[in-house]
Amino acid sequence: MKYKNILVTGGAGFVGSNLALKIKLNYPDCEVFVFDNLKRRGSELSIPRFKSAGITFIHGDIRNKEDFEELPEIDLLLECSAEPSVLAGIHSSPTYLINTNLGGTINCLEFARKYNSAFVFISTSRVYPIEPINSLRYLEDETRFSMLEQQQIAGASIEGIAENFPLEGARSLYGSTKLCSEIIIQEYMDGFGLTGIINRCGVITGPWQMGKVDQGVFVLWVARHVFGGDLSYIGYGGQGKQVRDFIHIDDLFAALDLQLCDIEKFNGKIFNIGGGKENSVSLQELTAICQRVTGREIPINSVYENRPADLISFITDSSKFRRMTGWRPLINAEMTVVDIADWILENKQQLKHILC
Ligand SMILES: NC(=O)c1ccc[n+]([C@@H]2O[C@H](COP(=O)([O-])OP(=O)(O)OC[C@H]3O[C@@H](n4cnc5c(N)ncnc54)[C@H](O)[C@@H]3O)[C@@H](O)[C@H]2O)c1
Repeated sequence: MKYKNILVTGGAGFVGSNLALKIKLNYPDCEVFVFDNLKRRGSELSIPRFKSAGITFIHGDIRNKEDFEELPEIDLLLECSAEPSVLAGIHSSPTYLINTNLGGTINCLEFARKYNSAFVFISTSRVYPIEPINSLRYLEDETRFSMLEQQQIAGASIEGIAENFPLEGARSLYGSTKLCSEIIIQEYMDGFGLTGIINRCGVITGPWQMGKVDQGVFVLWVARHVFGGDLSYIGYGGQGKQVRDFIHIDDLFAALDLQLCDIEKFNGKIFNIGGGKENSVSLQELTAICQRVTGREIPINSVYENRPADLISFITDSSKFRRMTGWRPLINAEMTVVDIADWILENKQQLKHILC
C-alpha cells in the first residue's frame, strides 16, 4: 500500500474507527490521523483506542473550513463522517445533515485537492430511490420478503440492486445528500484529476457500532437482547419480514484493502459493496439468531404502519466488485451477532448508558 499519511474524517465513528485501526495494524509505517467532531454518542470511546494504537486524534468539524487548517499534509483521505440516519431531517431540521453530508464532503474534497491526495468515499445503498425498490416483485415467505427471479427494472435481479439501477425518485434526505456528494466527487475526479473511489455500502455492522433506534439495527437488536428491554417490528404488516443485507466491518476492510493496494485499477469508479443475498436477514430472522446467541427472549411489539423512508428489502448486488477482485464477505449473520454480543459483554459497563 503506497499511502503513508492517511486522514480518516469521521474517524471516531463506527466505520472510520475500525478502518483507521485496521489500517494502522496492517500498515504500521503509515501515519493515521483521525478527524471527528464527536457528534455521535459513543464516538469518544475511540479516543483511548487510538492512543494505544499510535493514531493521532484531531477534534474538528468537517463543516468548518478553518478546522482543516490544523491538519497535516496527507496522501489519502478516507471520508467516513456523516449524519448516517435515514430518518435525519424528516421530523426535524435537515440543516445539520445537509451541511455535514454535503457541505462537509466538499470541504474534504478541497482539502484532498490541496495536497493532491487520493479520496475514498463511503457512500450508501440509500442513493437508490425508495419507490422503485419497493415496487419490485417480492414473495412473502414465512420469515421474510424474498426478491423474485424475474424483475422488470434494469439493475434489479435476484442478486439484488446493481449500480445501474435507475436513480429517479426520492431517496430520503440522507440518501440525497450522499448522492449529491457522489456527483460532486465525480466532478473533482474529472475536472481536477482527483484519484478516487466511491463505495456504496449496504448495512455495515460489527463491534464498536453505537446502534440506536434510527441507525445501526444489528447492534440495537443484539444490545436489547443482552441488556433487556423491548423492540418493535415496524411496518410492512408488523411481522419483521423486511430484509437487509449486511457486511461485517472486517469484510469492508478487506474490500478497501484490495482497493488501496491497487488504486489505479479502481480509480474513478463506483462500486456497490454489500453482503448480497447470502448475507441477508429479515428482522424476524435476526431475532431468532439473537435469541440463540444470547439465550434470551425479549418482548417484540408489532407496529402496522410503515416508517418513513423504509424499504421492504435491500440486497446489494456487488457483482461488479466481486468480478474485479474475487472479494466476497466471509462473516455470516450468526458469526456477526456472536462478535457483537462478545464485544457488548466485554464492555458492558461502558456501553450500558449508550446502547440502552
Ligand atoms: N453503518 C452503516 O450501516 C453504513 C452503511 C452505508 C454507508 N455508511 C456510511 O459510512 C459512513 C460512516 O458511518 P458510521 O456507521 O460509521 O456512522 P457513525 O455515526 O458511527 O460515524 C460517523 C462519525 O462522523 C462524525 N461526524 C458527524 N458529523 C461530523 C462533522 N460535521 N464533522 C466531523 N465529524 C462528524 C460522528 O461524530 C461520528 O463519529 C457514513 O458516511 C455513512 O453514510 C454507513
